[in-house]
Amino acid sequence: MDKKQQDELKNKAAIRAAELVEPGMKLGVGTGSTIAFFIDALGKRKKEEGLDLEAIVTTSSRSKKQLEKWGFTVNELAEVDQLDLTIDGADRVDVNFDGIKGGGGALTMEKNVAANSEKVLWIVDESKLVDRLSGFPLPVEILPISCEQNFRRFRNDGLNPSWRMDGNKRFVTHYGNYIVDLNVDPIPIPRGLDDYLDKVVGVVETGLFLDMCDEVIIARSDGEIEDRE
Ligand code: 5RP
Repeated sequence: MDKKQQDELKNKAAIRAAELVEPGMKLGVGTGSTIAFFIDALGKRKKEEGLDLEAIVTTSSRSKKQLEKWGFTVNELAEVDQLDLTIDGADRVDVNFDGIKGGGGALTMEKNVAANSEKVLWIVDESKLVDRLSGFPLPVEILPISCEQNFRRFRNDGLNPSWRMDGNKRFVTHYGNYIVDLNVDPIPIPRGLDDYLDKVVGVVETGLFLDMCDEVIIARSDGEIEDRE
C-alpha cells in the first residue's frame, strides 16, 4: 500500500472516530499523523454542526496548534477533573489491546491523559496490529541527570538501548528529558518489563500502555473500517 492509500484509510478511520464524540464531552486528543486527520474531522463537525465540547485536552504542541486553528479552546489536563474519552493513535496494538506508543515522543503526556480518561480509543491502520508487542522499539523517557547510568544499565541488562536522535543531537521531550528506545523484539513479558522499568530511578514514563485501551478502530487494507471493543 502506498502512502496516499494509507492516508486515505487513516482519514476514514479518523472520521469514524470523530463521529463517536458527543457534544458536551470532556475530550482527550493524542498526537501523530492519524490524529491529525482526526482533528480535521472534529474541526469540520465543529464548523458544520457547531459541535461544542466542555473541555479538550491534548498531548503535544502540534495537536494543540491544529485544534486551535479549528477554533477549539485547549485546556490543561490539571484543570479538568476526569476526561470522558481520549482518542489517540498507537505504534503497535496486541490482541489484548496493550500497546506501544511514543513514536512521536509524546508518551508522557499521552499516558497521563489516557490515565485520566474514562474511556480510551485508539485509531490504527492494520499494519500496527500484532499478536505480541513487537516490530517497534519501546520508547522510555528518562531524566538527563542519570541518563548515562540508565543507558548503561539498560545495555547491561540486554535491552539494546539506542538514543532517540533529532538530527545529530539527542531528542528532547516537551519536559526537557531524553528518550531511549529499547530494541526488544518481541517484548517477551510486557508486565515484567513494565515492573522493571518502574523501579529504575530516573525513568519518567514508558511507551508501554498496558490495560489502558478500551476500543480500537482499525483501518483495513481492503478499505473496511473495523471497530473492536
Ligand atoms: C506519538 C504516538 C502516536 O500516537 C503514534 O506514534 C502513532 O502515530 P501515527 O498516527 O503517526 O502513526 O504515540 O507519541
